Parts: sequence; C-alpha cells; structure tokens
Amino acid sequence: MCGIVGYVGNENASGPVLNGLATLEYRGYDSAGLATIEPGLDHLGIYKAAGKLVNLRQVVDDAQPQGTTAIGHTRWATHGDPTTVNAHPHTTADQRLAVVHNGIIENHLEVAAMLREEHGITPVSDTDTEIIAHLIGTLYTGDLKEAVRQATQVLTGQYAIGVIHRDHPDTIVAAVNGAPMVIGTTDDVAVLCSDVAGLLPYTRHITAVPDGHMAMLTPGHMEIFDQDGAPATGHTYEVDWTAEEAEKGGYPSFMAKEIAEQPRAVRDTMTGRWDGTQVHIDEVSFDLSRLKTFDKIIIVACGTSHHAGLVARRAFEHWTRLSTEVEIASEFRYRDPIVNKATLVVAISQSGETADTIAAMQYAQDQGATTLGVTNMVGSTLARGADSVIITRAGREVAVASTKAFTTQIVALMVAALWIGQARGNLYVEEIQAVFDDLQSLPDAMETVLAQDAYIGSLATALVNRLTSQHGYVMFFGRLNGLPIALEGALKLKEISYLHAEGFASGEMKHGPIALIEPGVTVIAIATEGAVKTKVMSNIEQVKGRGAHVIAIVTEGDDDVRALADDVIVVPAAMELASPILAVIPVQMLALHVANALDRDVDQPRNLAKTVTVE
Ligand code: G6P
Repeated sequence: MCGIVGYVGNENASGPVLNGLATLEYRGYDSAGLATIEPGLDHLGIYKAAGKLVNLRQVVDDAQPQGTTAIGHTRWATHGDPTTVNAHPHTTADQRLAVVHNGIIENHLEVAAMLREEHGITPVSDTDTEIIAHLIGTLYTGDLKEAVRQATQVLTGQYAIGVIHRDHPDTIVAAVNGAPMVIGTTDDVAVLCSDVAGLLPYTRHITAVPDGHMAMLTPGHMEIFDQDGAPATGHTYEVDWTAEEAEKGGYPSFMAKEIAEQPRAVRDTMTGRWDGTQVHIDEVSFDLSRLKTFDKIIIVACGTSHHAGLVARRAFEHWTRLSTEVEIASEFRYRDPIVNKATLVVAISQSGETADTIAAMQYAQDQGATTLGVTNMVGSTLARGADSVIITRAGREVAVASTKAFTTQIVALMVAALWIGQARGNLYVEEIQAVFDDLQSLPDAMETVLAQDAYIGSLATALVNRLTSQHGYVMFFGRLNGLPIALEGALKLKEISYLHAEGFASGEMKHGPIALIEPGVTVIAIATEGAVKTKVMSNIEQVKGRGAHVIAIVTEGDDDVRALADDVIVVPAAMELASPILAVIPVQMLALHVANALDRDVDQPRNLAKTVTVE
C-alpha cells in the first residue's frame, strides 16, 4: 500500500506531484506529504498533513513552495498511526535528505538499534521509513546514488523508495525491491510513480524499474542501475489507456481488477503477522490476559463481510475452543442477545462504516463485551471504536461487489483466531507455524485459479444461453466450508447480474429448494475436498437426476465429482479451513462474466451502494 511520486523538471514541482498523488489515493489516504528542494534554503521544504490529500493541498497552497524537484507520498498506515509526524516524507535530523517509501522494511528494528548505538540517532516517528532516511544519511559522503545503493544492501523487505538531497537539486534517486515503480520522461522532465496513472500527463512510454534495481532521474533523463551500481535496463512498454482506464490498471472494470489483485492483497494481509513465536495484530487497547476470560465469541457483520464471518467460524472454534456464533449485524441487537463481560464480539466491515455493524459493536460494548474490529479502513469508525483491530490490507476496493475484501477478511480472521488461541494456550508454536506455512502458499494457488479466466468465461456464456423466461435463476449449494461460498456466489451473481440466485446448504435441498429443479436449471456445487465431499456428491446426483446442469468447484486431482458434474472448475488443494479462499474465486469470476454477458454495470449495480451508512 501507499503511493509515491517524484518529479524533476523545469516547473514548480509541487503541482505535478500533488496531481500524481491524486491518481494514487486509492492506495491509501491516511495522510500525505511532499518534500521539495527549495532555492535559497539550506534544508528541504517539507509539507505534511494527516487525512486526505485535500489537507496537504491546503498546506502547500499556504506555503507556496517553488522548487522544481519534489517527491510526494500518500499513505496507508502500516507502522504507526496515521498522524502528521508519521506522514512521509521522512528526513534526516538536518532535513537535508528526504525519503518516500511504499512497502515494509522487515529489519527496521534491527537497523534502528544499529543507528542508535553507532550514531546516537533517535527517530521522531513510529515508522519504518524514517529509518531508511537516517541510514542513507549515515552512508552519504557526497554521492547520493552510492549512499542509497549501500543502504539497499542493509535493508530487507519490500520497498519502492524515492530520495532527494539538498546538495543535488536536480536529482531523484530511487530503489525498488518487490514494490512497483514506473518512470516516464519528456524532453525536460522525469517523473516516477507507483503506477502508470501518474505518468499519463507526460508520456505513454513507460519504464518499470526491475526488482533489486535503482534509478536516477534528472530533468529529461533517467538511468537504471543494478545492485552493484552498474548500468542496466528497465522493462519498457507503451500504454494507450485513458486516465480512468489507467486507474483500473488496464482492466475493463474495477471488479475485474480487484478479483485479479487478490493474491497480492492476501499476501499483504499476512505480512508481519507471525514472527516465528508470536501472532501479531494491529492494535490492542486492553490487557492481553483478558483473552483468557472469554467464554464465547460472536461475529457480527453484513453482506459479504457476514459470509467471511461464516467461513471463519470453524477456524475460531477450532483454534480458540470457544463457542462461536455468526450474526447478521442488523438482526443482532434487537433480539436481546446474551452478551456480557465474558463475550468477545468480532465486528467485520470492509469500510468500517456500515451503520448496522457499528451499532452492533457499540451495543456489545455497552453490555461490557470486548470487541475486535476487522476492517480495510485505518481510521474508520470501526477501527477507532473497537478495543482491538486487525486491518485487512486489500487496498481500496471500488467495485460495489466486494471481492478482495472478502478473501483478505478470511485471512485476517484466521490470524485473529490464531492470536486468541495462542493467548489462551491452546496452540503450540509448531502448529501456528504450520498454518502460516500453508497460508503462504495461497497467493500462488490463487493465481492458478485466476489463470482459468477464459474457461470460466465460456461457462458463463453457456449459462446465460441456458436461461429461459421460465427458469431465469441459478442455484448454488455446498456444505460446511462450501455453504458460505454458495451464499457468497449467489450474492455476487444477483447483485451484479440481477439474475435471481440463491445459496443453500446442500443437505437442505430435499427439504424444499429441490422443487425448483427442472431440466436446464444451472446448479453451482461447491464440492472441494473435505469431510463432507461425499455428501455433496449425493446432492449433485439428486439434482442431476432431475435435469439440472451442474458446474462443480472441485479440488485438483478430484475424479469423483468430475464424473458426476457437467462442468468442473478446478482449484488447488489447500488446508481445509482456508480452502474457501480458493473456492470463492471461480464464483466471483463466473458472476463477473455472466454480468458482462448481460451488459450490466458491474462496478455500480443498480440500487446498491458500496458503504451502507444508514440502518
Ligand atoms: C454493502 C456492499 C457489500 C458489503 C456490505 C458490507 O452491501 O455493497 O459489498 O459486503 O455493504 O459492507 P462492509 O463495508 O461493512 O463490509
């Protein structure tokens, strides 16, 4: 998360950098900042503001910087609160060197200790980024590129950084390791940005800085170097996107982009949660011994977030050994639920602003319960109000139909369940390690599902062709882990395609829903490996016997379900508790393709809103 921009050229740089940051706000908007090389000053101009970019614009308008070289940043907090002091750019104590950073420096504590012991440096912020500025400052002897290069030999983790120094008025030095950075030039300007959108006002000829490489920008020029400082080449390409298409990263819709981003989002959500001995969450404002006093857990949420809660219930019960209920937030507080000091209420909300979820959390707090918020939005009402918080690092989700928020919520909830289980003494370190090892394999497994896009598109076309005025609906079923995915698949399909779709517990089919089956009706069966696969197979046979067309989501290597179903979509094997993270991707993709085939507005479907702030 976070977005960075750099400009070196012939006009006042603060305007172009602010405009670049505006294209990156989707990467975070907790705070923003700008550093310029100001003529006549012996230190840099530093301008920062907490909150959205509009606040920084005001600060810059008031200060009127004049420099023609600047770096800027829009932040999505990972280390330290979203305050002005934690906002980037971060500088050396003399403010002659500034750094903007996107990513996470994994060894920042170690480097901070070295800087303290060997150079007496005490950071002023809580960020990992400030350590980079001090480190480069201690290595600088007049050659900025060399100082940055040496710093990259020390730093571990994922980063893209931009660096300026008062003594090099027309230069930006950049370095990249596992985070995106693209560069564009004109005759007299060079610009760097976390994504292509910020370069489009200048050029459509893009150079991506390869991992482990550095770049040096001067007006109208850029050079790429390898980690030894030797000249190298970047990956160059042309784009013909409009600005809006660029924001969508070349995808036809935000929903398509967000589905494709899930491996990255899941990986980010896991990063830093386990250090080999201890599970970490983002914020806790109570004594951890309280985790031992709970006698039950209640999960509250709405919509897709509620489905994530349903998936996570098994992980909570398995690892915490506490009875766990999952409630629709809008139902919860009106039935006088049994909630007291011994209850942990987990409130899940992508936006952190859903009125019913906030109200349920507040109701639980009024009854003396402890609350854990799971949200994608740092600084949201949920994040500020909960007693403890775990942030999903999905990045901005624009499409109304939630996708990457869902998969990251499941990961965050699994982390939370492990955190509680560990605090209650239910789990050995080796067991937690094994779970994290399994979770680490998910992003690659997700890629293999995403790679089936064309095939899933063909299934969607055939599904649309099977619809008739008599049965213009689709049924989803599954059991245990498969049930929340059936519910989520039906929700995705109905909200963006406007087709009637319902999800059922497959064991319940014969208690009513099977009456809807007639020849040609499409049934999507979630039939991945697990304790109940053979039961789901019986349910498939029952609907097949009545003429249904069955598309089954199956685990790699499965031949049993394949023999029964009309079509199968294969997902890689995964630990059973995490398998819904893979099984949901085909139903998201199927819904998207069906909606596209029906020419719907997939990002902004009728009657819906992304964030429901009313009851
Ligand atoms: C709306 C959105 C859904 C979302 C639900 C809950 O209905 O369209 O995508 O799942 O709200 O939102 P939350 O922000 O609380 O997760």
